[in-house]
Amino acid sequence: MEIWAHRGASAVAPENTLAAFQAALLAGADGIELDVQLTRDGVVVVIHDETLERTTDGSGFVREKTWAELARLDAGRWFHPDFRGERVPRLEDVLTWARGTNLKLNIELKNAPFPMPGLEETVVALLHRHDLVERTVLSSFNHESVRRLRRDHPEVRAAILSVARLFDPCRYLAAIGGADLHPYYLTVSPELAAHAAACGARVRAFTVDRPEDIRLLQAYGVHGVITNRPAEARQALLAVS
Ligand code: G3P
Ligand code: MG
Repeated sequence: MEIWAHRGASAVAPENTLAAFQAALLAGADGIELDVQLTRDGVVVVIHDETLERTTDGSGFVREKTWAELARLDAGRWFHPDFRGERVPRLEDVLTWARGTNLKLNIELKNAPFPMPGLEETVVALLHRHDLVERTVLSSFNHESVRRLRRDHPEVRAAILSVARLFDPCRYLAAIGGADLHPYYLTVSPELAAHAAACGARVRAFTVDRPEDIRLLQAYGVHGVITNRPAEARQALLAVS
């Protein structure tokens, strides 16, 4: 079962920074999950919240700022003084770094509830430019966006994020054009794992940190777990292998 570091190894380093992605690599993660949004001037940046206050020393909405304004912010000090000087990365910065690793990438488009026109196209163009399409899965809670991705860029793997339990997920995924399933981990059952496997959909459950839950999901046959603690997840899996 694959281990995906949620926002990087975000239990030990500030989320969605190069420090967190480097920590995920050192922890033995198979992949990293990261959140992306567009700035006012169309740059794809890696940050979770719609606003800057929680994870930077800035304020206001990400989508109302230019890249030049975001580039000045500190994105590490809120987490711990040792991380002072960490920046909000552009997706381009992460892709350049990731090319030198074997990590897989799960890029979550933060285009729900705000649609962010152009985000899908810009992200896909960057993936092609960095030759990282093969290692990447795009995901979103905005299922219209996933549908557009499947229609316009069938070469790119895509997944729907869900919190609710889904009725007949294979029919839903087929209607979207073929996608993987990234469900909230408490909604995953052996039946869901088997159902998804029957239609070729990979299941990657989020966000799961407790070793006993990780082992249970492995027993259910899910393809991956998205965790804040990739080192502990690796230990949990080693303990049963
Ligand atoms: O992609 C899985 C997970 O990151 C979805 O929720 O809010 O942590 O981005 P969130
Ligand atoms: Mg996310």
